[in-house]
Amino acid sequence: MSFNVQFNNIKIINSMANNLHIYETPEDTARAVAEMILTKVKEKNKQSIPFNIAVSGGNTPKLLFNLLANEYSERMPWHIVRLFWVDERCVAPTHADSNFGMAYQSLLVNVPIPDANIFRMQGEVKPETEVLRYQALLEKELPMQNGFPQFDLVLLGLGDDGHTASIFPNDMSLLQSDLAVGLGIHPVSGQRRITLSGRTIRQAEMVVFFITGSSKADVIRQIIQRESIFENFPASHVYSKSGMADFYLDYAAAKDLTVNN
Ligand code: 6PG
Repeated sequence: MSFNVQFNNIKIINSMANNLHIYETPEDTARAVAEMILTKVKEKNKQSIPFNIAVSGGNTPKLLFNLLANEYSERMPWHIVRLFWVDERCVAPTHADSNFGMAYQSLLVNVPIPDANIFRMQGEVKPETEVLRYQALLEKELPMQNGFPQFDLVLLGLGDDGHTASIFPNDMSLLQSDLAVGLGIHPVSGQRRITLSGRTIRQAEMVVFFITGSSKADVIRQIIQRESIFENFPASHVYSKSGMADFYLDYAAAKDLTVNN
């Protein structure tokens, strides 16, 4: 069991192998994620090799994307950043629900990332067709490890119900799928989703959860401290190839973690 706490040396008991990075505000947390990504990209740039990152949708990443657009447009070596998606809603890129649309408006139009480095999931295409197309694209564009495409970093969020990517508690089979990409269905809206599978996420060099807000605190407590019904949460079953996940949390999201002085 190992963990690093970036906040007043608080010890969190009984956590799975995680790195916990806890900051006071969502903005501070987003900045810590941006700095971590910058460090990782610069390391790759020294070796003149690409940095393959998959990003999630929803609201939380918007804060990070805006920050990267406003303060990292010149600092980040964007020419080696290759951008993929963790999941996409089955809607057109211009639709308000589009994860690509959100990233495009809040980040891509504001930073010099080459168009050839942007690999969006096509939410407007027949989902079954897009699953196969994106699977083939990942196998072509990424290194393959143990039969699965390997990202340098997978950036995840967490739903109040413990879902991550578009792997929901009502369909955990995507966690063990033999395919790199699958179809998820939102349990409330019924919205269809294209999503990376659990085994693709678990092949990544680094898995980072970026989570803010008190509505997630109880689920985070259960996942990190392996308590209550944590096994029912898809987010409990994803981590990097080394078995570790990094959790970047603000105070509100971390508020229910048990301190062991
Ligand atoms: C999506 C996401 C999803 C998201 C969580 C948290 O497309 O919705 O990829 O997994 O990360 O639902 O969403 P919020 O950041 O909006 O809380």
